Amino acid sequence: MSNTRVGIIGYGYWGPNLTRNFYEIPSADLIAIADLSVERIKQAELKYPQVITKHDYKELFDLDLDAVVIATPPATHYQIAKDCLEHNLHVLIEKPMTLKSGDAEKLVELSDAMDLRLMVGHTFEYNSSVHALKQYIDSGELGDIYYLDAARLNLGLFQRDSNVLWDLAPHDISILLYLLGKKPISVSAQGTTCVFGGIHDVAYVNMMFPENIPAHVHVSWLDPCKVRRITVVGSKKMAVYNDMENEQKIKIYDKGVDAPPDYTNGGFGEFHCNYHSGDITIPNIRFVEPLRQECQHFIDCIVNHTRPISSGNTGLEVVKILEVAQHSMNNGHTSEVLTW
Ligand SMILES: NC(=O)c1ccc[n+]([C@@H]2O[C@H](COP(=O)([O-])OP(=O)(O)OC[C@H]3O[C@@H](n4cnc5c(N)ncnc54)[C@H](O)[C@@H]3O)[C@@H](O)[C@H]2O)c1
Repeated sequence: MSNTRVGIIGYGYWGPNLTRNFYEIPSADLIAIADLSVERIKQAELKYPQVITKHDYKELFDLDLDAVVIATPPATHYQIAKDCLEHNLHVLIEKPMTLKSGDAEKLVELSDAMDLRLMVGHTFEYNSSVHALKQYIDSGELGDIYYLDAARLNLGLFQRDSNVLWDLAPHDISILLYLLGKKPISVSAQGTTCVFGGIHDVAYVNMMFPENIPAHVHVSWLDPCKVRRITVVGSKKMAVYNDMENEQKIKIYDKGVDAPPDYTNGGFGEFHCNYHSGDITIPNIRFVEPLRQECQHFIDCIVNHTRPISSGNTGLEVVKILEVAQHSMNNGHTSEVLTW
């Protein structure tokens, strides 16, 4: 079987990472790169002299490609992805898939109608630490899940045409959907616009999942410390995934607390909680670059005609949650019910 012929659209900050992976994947041929910027195309030509370069992505349609990878700013995703699907190309599109759920829906419908793969760059769904965390949840080792908490904080990078919710929260929302295998029932969000008027730079998103499991996402472009952390608190154990750690990314804490046996609703009797604090387990997780896994999976889905893990539908779910969270932030932290 011949290799999958791939074109990259958008060679800014993230595009080069995708490009490198498709260049290195044996079953893919990196054929072309398109970027509006003269400077970015110069950079691409220096690194990949044998690859065809264009400024207008529409010129890629003459190159007999099988697939494209879209790493342009989110506001451009819908139109570019639509054009590419209409030209019979499989599409891997960066997060967030679109800025409107209606547009994401149209892309899912179009890819289904054309029988093309539509995949979203939810990189963490291809991350071995996230897979390990899911196994701890699914195996019941943590017990009943009480709540999940996600924090993705740093100083910057401020963006003109996005806000922190749409920039950073897609990662955490996609992780939470993946970990729980469920979609939230309701969402509320609060945010602040500290530096630039009208652009939220700090946001707190609260989601309620089925079986009464709450999850909280805190994202910030305005924090002194870089934090990339997911905490899962269960009735038996607690797990922390700290992506800032080099090796010990996941720690399972055998910690918990039981209410006193004589506790009755509304009254505490003798208020003696039963705390336990046992071993901390650090699983040995083999690191494989998540982006490599993601890119390889895209090629495999094309070749095997299978549905991607981070399919267009998953992308649509995340956009729907972001849209509702944005609405809640704009309207004084209202709680919004999601219908699926
Ligand atoms: N998965 C991840 O971890 C991850 C990380 C960073 C960024 N991203 C996503 O990747 C996408 C790109 O982000 P970035 O930080 O690289 O942005 P960027 O602004 O650095 O790069 C975007 C590039 O797209 C080019 N471009 C814009 N419109 C174009 C068009 N119509 N045709 C061709 N080229 C066009 C620009 O010239 C620029 O070089 C965003 O959706 C972002 O959310 C994902």
